[in-house]
Order: sequence, then C-alpha cells, then structure tokens
Amino acid sequence: MAEATLGGSAERVSFEEAGLRYEVDGEIATITLDRPEKRNAQTFATWSALARIGDDLPEQVRIVVVQGEGPSFSAGIDLRMFTPEGVPGQGSFSSVAQLDNTSFEQRIEQAQQGFLWLRRPEIVSIAAVQGHAIGAGFQLALACDLRIVADDVKFCMKEPALGLVPDLTGTKPLVDLVGTAKAIDICLTARFVDAEEAFRIGLAERVVSREELAQAVGDKAAELLSTDRDAATATKRLLQGARGRTLEEQAAAERVAQAARIKALFAVS
Ligand code: ACO
Repeated sequence: MAEATLGGSAERVSFEEAGLRYEVDGEIATITLDRPEKRNAQTFATWSALARIGDDLPEQVRIVVVQGEGPSFSAGIDLRMFTPEGVPGQGSFSSVAQLDNTSFEQRIEQAQQGFLWLRRPEIVSIAAVQGHAIGAGFQLALACDLRIVADDVKFCMKEPALGLVPDLTGTKPLVDLVGTAKAIDICLTARFVDAEEAFRIGLAERVVSREELAQAVGDKAAELLSTDRDAATATKRLLQGARGRTLEEQAAAERVAQAARIKALFAVS
C-alpha cells in the first residue's frame, strides 16, 4: 500500500487511511474519494495523499479522473475540524488557529498542492461528479480541467456560510468559468447549483444520468487520448496562458509553440 505524508505532521498514512483509492491503467489514472459512509469528507491527509499522487504520477499518464464513491462526490472538509477534538492526528481549526500566520499559510499551501497539479499541461483532469460537491468537494471538482456531472449534482461553496473563505484553489477557476458576478452569487449565498444551472453557466461540460456517468467519462477520456500527446500538451499550455495575454502576445505564443511542433515532426537531422 502506498503511503502519504500528512501535511504538517510527521505521521504517515496510507491512501486507504486518507480516504482514497488510486489506480493507473495505461494512460489513465483514476483517483476515487472512498469514504462514502462519511460522504467522502476530506482531511489534510486526503490533500497530502493527492499531492503525493501528483508528485509520483507516471509519465505515461495523460488523463486523470477524479471521482467519488457512493451518493456524494464529496461533502467537503471533515466537519470534525470544527470541533475541539479535531481529526485524530491532524488537529482542529482551534489548534491551527494558534499557529503564526506564516506557519498557517504554509499549512494551507501544503493542502493546495493536492489540487494545483491537476492543471498540469501534460494531463487533462476530469471530475466525475454526482450528488453533493460541497466546499472542498466543489473546489476539488473546480481543480480539474473538465467536469462531467450526474443529473443529481449539487455544487455548493459553503465556506462563507461557515465563516471561511474558499482556499483550496477554487476561486480562480470558478471566476474563469462563470464570471465574477455569478461567482459572487454562488459563493456569498452558499446556495446549491443544480445540474441544469451548472451546464448553463459553464461549470459542467456534460450532464448525464448517474448510471451513465462512468461511461461518459470513459468516452471523453478516449476522445482526449485520440489526439497527439505532445500537441495536446502544447495546446493546453497555450489555452491556459491565453487569458493573461493580449491577442498579439497570444499570436506570438502560437508561433513559438508551432515552430517547436513543426521542428519535432518534420526536421531532417
Ligand atoms: N464531515 C464529516 N462527516 C460528514 C460530512 C463532513 N463534511 N458530511 C457528512 N458526514 C457524515 C455525517 O455526519 C453522517 O455520518 P453518520 O452516519 O456517522 O451520522 C454521514 O456522513 C452521512 O451524512 P448524511 O448527512 O446523513 O448524508 P446525506 O446524504 O443525507 O447528506 C450532505 C449529505 C448534504 C453532504 C450532508 O451530509 C451535509 O450537509 N454535510 C456537511 C457539508 C458541509 O458543511 N461541509 C463543509 C463545507 S466547507 C469546506 O469544505 C471547507
């Protein structure tokens, strides 16, 4: 059993203890949140394990599927964090509140490492989302490039209702996907976003029945794998940089990327 180092602690936990399953089948890696009896609630151990998967991802992997076992994708952070006892071995919000700001921010940064790698240009990450995706669950779905959802999906950015801000890298993809006004509406009301709305506002690429979810994700993975690997990586890099560039800068970036592609494909040595 692979092990993950717990963020902020010397304790080492297995993927199973972190509430995850992880499988690699050729070019497809699948991460399954696997604590259905607690609606796949997440802990610091979950995020450390996710980061570890990103660090050790085999080079051949091109698609990463993130899914949840049971009725909910994820009910967000483990609510034991809000209790004085906290999560065994991981503390509580009242214990981390004692840390100085630098140490606390480092702790959050460690947690964020579990999410950020899912945007790597070399892979396409797909969240398969059914049922509730609340707080950290919503942010994990947002950390992925694409979201394919079941028609019973309910996204909710619960953090502001609990006195917190979303800090697991979800705010930027949310704004990029739906715009600032809709993101304010979703976050500051902490309301549920259903499948119809998620599709309409661009949060979900596709809505299917729960029974069809795995097949729909498999079909998308196969479509994505049908293009050239290096061209896909270079194209994703271009697309990711597009918002931060002017049209002229983007055109220049396209030229540089294409020159590299043509050389790789046709240069005579
Ligand atoms: N942390 C720990 N345990 C949880 C969590 C959670 N976030 N969510 C659910 N559970 C547990 C419940 O306590 C219950 O445990 P028990 O069987 O031992 O009593 C079990 O999972 C099933 O929960 P139910 O509420 O019975 O499941 P249901 O399907 O009816 O509802 C729902 C699911 C809507 C997700 C509900 O559990 C819920 O609202 N959970 C809390 C969501 C939340 O506030 N998350 C924090 C967001 S903020 C952030 O992530 C930073």
